[in-house]
Amino acid sequence: MGWIKIFSKHADAEELLSENKPQLVVIGEKRICLVKRNKRFYAVSNKCTHNGESLSKGIVNSVGEIVCPWHGYQFDLQTGREYRERSADLEIYPVRDEEDGLYIAI
Ligand code: FES
Repeated sequence: MGWIKIFSKHADAEELLSENKPQLVVIGEKRICLVKRNKRFYAVSNKCTHNGESLSKGIVNSVGEIVCPWHGYQFDLQTGREYRERSADLEIYPVRDEEDGLYIAI
């Protein structure tokens, strides 16, 4: 596992990411769904474990779950768990938010 810098400074991540708006980030062969929410950043696998839809096309609900746009499965951004356990957990990636940048561990 290594830390990959995806923004060159904290201020850029704050400015360029909208609150609760999923953003697709591609790092090598990994497709990651990145979310800014309540002053924190979350990174989960972009591929829904139900049937493969892109979660970066989904929405974040009021309790901090990313909702798949296809069949509405709801995954906790911190744990990756689907709230009714209807499909496998999403892979989650640690995020480090520093003044000199935003990093994802992959
Ligand atoms: S593909 Fe995501 S809920 Fe079905």
